[in-house]
Amino acid sequence: MTDTKIAPKAPKAGANADVASGVAQFLTPVVHELVALAVNGKQAHWHVRGVNFIAVHELLDEVVAHAQDWADLAAERVVALGLPVDGRLKSVADKSGAVNPKLGFQPYDEAIADVVAQIDIAAEKVAEAIEGLDELDPVSQDVVIEIRRGLDKDRWFLFSHVAVK
Ligand SMILES: [Fe+2]
Repeated sequence: MTDTKIAPKAPKAGANADVASGVAQFLTPVVHELVALAVNGKQAHWHVRGVNFIAVHELLDEVVAHAQDWADLAAERVVALGLPVDGRLKSVADKSGAVNPKLGFQPYDEAIADVVAQIDIAAEKVAEAIEGLDELDPVSQDVVIEIRRGLDKDRWFLFSHVAVK
């Protein structure tokens, strides 16, 4: 084993810094909406009621877990490029487009409608990121494409509980 005398360097400034700040610009709103989805998804998990209780209760926990994983994926892409990311509670509350769900117990169809609406808000930010990152950084675009694929699937799983056909 050889001694390493030179510490690893932080990512370089210049052109890379422009890429990093562009990536942060598109991924930060994605982080905010996914954190909001995780918080309000948990609220729905706790308060859902109705004939499909156990299926929806358990599915909502999966949606929450996915949202947390994807928030982590998007945030860490920004950090990997050398910039901080603002995922603080107040920043999420101020910047997210999430609508506050009703307090207390909810029939399953209303709980699902609320969570699907939040998925749609997150998907909108993800779509903007996919478009904006197209030329800027294909590696970051790949992150949001992966998130979009998962959000679409979770939306389908949830929506299918209330779809009439
Ligand atoms: Fe639980």
